[in-house]
Amino acid sequence: MNTFHTIKGLRDALAAERAKGHRIGLVPTMGNLHDAHLELVKVAHQHCDVVVTSIFVNALQFGLNEDWDRYPRTIEDDMRKLGSVGCDYLFHPDDVEMYPNGLVDQTRVVCPTMTDVLCGASRPGHFEGVTTVVTKLFNIVQPDLAVFGIKDFQQLAVIRRMVEDLCMAVEIVAAPIHREPDGLAMSSRNSYITAAERPKVAVLHDTLQWMAERIRAGEKNFPALEVEAGKRIEAAGFRVDYLAVCNSRNLEPAALDDCHITLLGALYTSGARLIDNLSLTLDERG
Ligand code: PAJ
Repeated sequence: MNTFHTIKGLRDALAAERAKGHRIGLVPTMGNLHDAHLELVKVAHQHCDVVVTSIFVNALQFGLNEDWDRYPRTIEDDMRKLGSVGCDYLFHPDDVEMYPNGLVDQTRVVCPTMTDVLCGASRPGHFEGVTTVVTKLFNIVQPDLAVFGIKDFQQLAVIRRMVEDLCMAVEIVAAPIHREPDGLAMSSRNSYITAAERPKVAVLHDTLQWMAERIRAGEKNFPALEVEAGKRIEAAGFRVDYLAVCNSRNLEPAALDDCHITLLGALYTSGARLIDNLSLTLDERG
C-alpha cells in the first residue's frame, strides 16, 4: 500500500492509474479502523481496480464540546489493517494540507433541511463539515465511486443528495451495517462505552427491531410508537436523543402510505452517543 500525506503526491499517483484505464474507488474514514471499515474497502474492490482509503479526523464536523481531540488516532494499526485487505492507496493528510486557510474561512458545502433533523438537530454544523470534507476528498481523488456505510444513514442520505444536487460524477455505493454478535453496530466510538454499560447498549438495535415488528404488524401511530420505544431505552438506563420513523429518502416523518421507511435512533451512554437504524419496505399499506 502506498501512503500519501499530500494532495499533489496522491494526485500524481492516481493520474498514472487513470492513464492505465483503472477505475478508482474511494473509502473516506476518520481512522481507528474496525472490521466495518475494512468491509467498505472490500466492497470498493468489488467495483474498482484501485481503492483509495482516506484517514482524516475532520475538525470541521466536530462541535466545540465534542471529541475531536480525544478521537482515537491509531494510524500504525490502521495501515496494517488496510494492507491486510489489499487497499492500494492511503491518503492521510494533516489539518494544514486539508484546510490551508484555516477552518473559519473555509468555503462550505451546505445541504439544507435534511441536515436540520435527527443527528443534525443535536450536532449543529456537523453535516456541513461532512459535506465540505467529502467534496474536498472527491475533488482530490476524483473517484469513479465512493463507498459509505448504511450505519450513518443520515450521512449517506445527505451525501447522495449533495451528489445529485451538485451533479458530482461519483457513484455512491452503500455498504451494509456491520455488527457485533449482540447486535451493537460497530463504531470507533464504542471504545467510550464502559464495561458496565456494554451488555446493555444492544437495547438500541433491539428497540429498532421491536419498532419494525410493530409496524409490520400494522401499527400506524408512529409518534406513540416512538414514545414507547424511548421508554425501553430509558428502562435500560440510557438517555434518548431521538427515535424516529422516517421516510427513507428525505428523512421526514414517515407518512402512513410511505413504503420505504427507516427507523433511526440515537442514545447517550455516560461517555458516548450511539446511533443505529433499520430500513423496512412495506408492500401494502392500508
Ligand atoms: P467514520 O466514522 O470513520 O466512518 C467511515 C465510514 O465507515 C462511513 O461511511 C461509515 O458509515 C462507515 N461505517 C462505520 N461503522 C460502520 C458499521 N458498523 N457498518 C457499516 N459501515 C460503517 O463517517 C465518517 O467517518 C466521516 O463522517 C467521513 C465520511 C469520513 C467524513 O469525515
